[in-house]
Amino acid sequence: MTDTEIKKGLAGVTVDYTAISKVNPDTNSLLYRGYPVHELAATQPFEAVAYLLWHGELPSETQLAQLRATERERRALTDDVKAAIDLLPVEAHPMDEVRTAVSVIGAADLAGIGNVMDAVGTPEENLDRSIRLFAALPAIVAYGQRRRRGQDAVAARDDLDYAANFLWMTFGEEADPVVVDAFNRSMILYAEHSFNASTFTARVIASTLSDLYSAVTGAVGALKGPLHGGANEAVLHIFDEIGSADRVTTWLDDALARKRKIMGFGHRVYKRGDSRVPTMKAALDSLVAHYDRPDVLALYDALESEFVGRKGIYPNLDYPSGPAYNLIGFDTLTFTPLFVAARITGWTAHIMEQQASNALIRPLSAYNGSDERHIEGYVPDS
Ligand code: ACO
Repeated sequence: MTDTEIKKGLAGVTVDYTAISKVNPDTNSLLYRGYPVHELAATQPFEAVAYLLWHGELPSETQLAQLRATERERRALTDDVKAAIDLLPVEAHPMDEVRTAVSVIGAADLAGIGNVMDAVGTPEENLDRSIRLFAALPAIVAYGQRRRRGQDAVAARDDLDYAANFLWMTFGEEADPVVVDAFNRSMILYAEHSFNASTFTARVIASTLSDLYSAVTGAVGALKGPLHGGANEAVLHIFDEIGSADRVTTWLDDALARKRKIMGFGHRVYKRGDSRVPTMKAALDSLVAHYDRPDVLALYDALESEFVGRKGIYPNLDYPSGPAYNLIGFDTLTFTPLFVAARITGWTAHIMEQQASNALIRPLSAYNGSDERHIEGYVPDS
């Protein structure tokens, strides 16, 4: 096999069909089940988008009410999950907490399934498992942040919608509607993005007929990396390093001289701008006005215009979402777990799609190691 046949990083390789989302870099658009994501972000609660990703259609009022009722019933931080998180060092990265928590939920839910062939589950069981994780993750993420701050968990409120309750469990106070709206939009924008690294990881695991929880646990691991989900956290580290808009040029001179990657910029698919950025930037603008923090916008704009001007590499979704989550009051370490809470919808939709039309994902490799050689003194049995 020649080098030209190898697609390093699977760049440009189309591996399967999906009916869940369409990323079109030419028109700079992203569709979930046919709907432009910015239209969904402007009009829908996150629960309705979760339903859309799983079922292919937006819910009727009754269907949405049913999903919300189930989600509310399963919101609580259960004793086993809390105990498992508490066993981890408080300095553990929250993505490690999330990964552990998903594993605990899966082990409890699948307890008693002795035969590995049965763990894969029916479509109905997998939808139920998807809703279980969707409902449980906010309490896990919220508790992680509170634990690091030395605070107790806050009980879920069943009179609040998903986004408002998430903020309630994190901060222990009701969020302003402007904040709830911006947060809801961010969840929708992060929900799904075709065969990105974590979703593909989930599909690879699902393709072995392993269970949904194992596939999600693997996806959490893939999302943790700074070239993927970890970038929203890294953006805030960069903002902290730079400090203020007037220091951007000096900072960038140094960073580029040292060939540093500027987190929150660039994308494997979008080369002329990430389709989700304008919607998230509008949400960031509303938060900047709400919290009266024009300094954040000044730094954001200065770094964007200077970096785009010099390199022609555009911001991705993590660039506006990092400062938005910071303004809301999330710790930087909590950003990637927020991405998990959103992307659980896309991951589980993909796992179910993979299960519905499965083929084991098993690519080939081209060997470039040493030629065949033999153990000195080895004499084969005659
Ligand atoms: N900062 C500096 N240079 C960059 C950046 C960046 N953010 N992104 C790309 N480049 C440069 C590369 O150094 C490379 O230059 P070279 O050809 O001189 O070596 C060139 O642009 C091409 O970059 P690749 O990394 O090969 O492009 P690829 O498509 O593989 O990378 C990626 C996409 C990994 C996202 C990259 O742009 C990156 O590392 N960005 C920073 C991390 C980030 O923001 N990730 C979030 C992804 S979106 C999401 O998860 C919501």
